[in-house]
Amino acid sequence: MTLQQLLGIELPIIQAPMAGVQDHRLAVAVSNAGGLGSLPAAMLSLEALRTELTALQAQTRKPYNVNFFCHTSPVPDAAREAAWRAALAPYYAELGIDPAQIAAGPGRAPFSAEAAALLAEFRPAVVSFHFGLPSTELLAQVKGWGSKVIASATTVAEALWLEAHGADAVIAQGLEAGGHRGHFLSMDLTEQAGLFALLPRIVQAVKVPVIAAGGIADAQGVAAAMALGAAGAQVGTAYL
Ligand SMILES: Cc1cc2nc3c(=O)[nH]c(=O)nc-3n(C[C@H](O)[C@H](O)[C@H](O)COP(=O)(O)O)c2cc1C
Repeated sequence: MTLQQLLGIELPIIQAPMAGVQDHRLAVAVSNAGGLGSLPAAMLSLEALRTELTALQAQTRKPYNVNFFCHTSPVPDAAREAAWRAALAPYYAELGIDPAQIAAGPGRAPFSAEAAALLAEFRPAVVSFHFGLPSTELLAQVKGWGSKVIASATTVAEALWLEAHGADAVIAQGLEAGGHRGHFLSMDLTEQAGLFALLPRIVQAVKVPVIAAGGIADAQGVAAAMALGAAGAQVGTAYL
C-alpha cells in the first residue's frame, strides 16, 4: 500500500507540524493542494486546539494531521531553569527580549485524556506523535475512531519500537531536521544520524511505510528520499 492510499492523500508530501510557528492556515493550504497538512498541538491549550480544529475542519474536506508530543513533563528544577536562562541571556539582550516575559516551566504539554476526548469530536484522518507514542489506552482510542497513526524515529531501534507499538507508518527524522529531535529511547546524541544514512536502514528494518524528514526542501530532495526507499517526505523548514 502506498502512503497516499494509507493516508488518503494525492501527493506523498506531509507538511511537518511545527509548534509555535504555524496554525491551521498552513495545514489547510497543504491539504487542499493534495498533500497532508498538519496542525501542531503541543503548545495549544484545549480551548485553542478546539478553535484551530474547528477552523481547519471548516476550510478543508481533505485529510489532515494533528500532532502531539508524548514526553514526560519534567519535574520543576530551579537550578536548571536558572542555568538555561543564564546561557540564553546574551541572546535575549541581543534581540531585545525581556526575559521576564518568558514563562517559567514547560511550555509544551504531552497528549492527554482530555486532548483525546476533544480529538474524538473531529476524528482527523491522521494523528502524529513526537517522542514516542501515548499510553496503550490513549493510542487505542485514537486508532479506535479510525485515525492513522504516524510517529518520528531518529534511530533504527526507535523505528522498530514504534512499529511494534502500533504506528501505521514511521517518520525517519534525520539529524538535519529543524525543530526538536524526536529521540525518545536514548539520550545519546552520538546515535543520531543524517537522513540519508538513517533512511535506508529504517526502510530495511520495518515493514510499515517510511516517511523521510530532515533537510528536504525541493522536488529533487523528495526524489532522492524516494530512491532510498521512502514512501513520502515530511517537509518543515521549506514551508516557513
Ligand atoms: C520550527 C519547527 C518546529 C517543529 N515542531 C514540531 C512539532 O511540534 N512536532 C513535531 O512532530 N515535529 C516538529 N518539528 C520537526 C518536523 O516535524 C520535521 O521533523 C522537520 O521539520 C523536518 O526537517 P526540515 O525542517 O529540514 O524539513 C518542528 C520543526 C521546526 C522547523
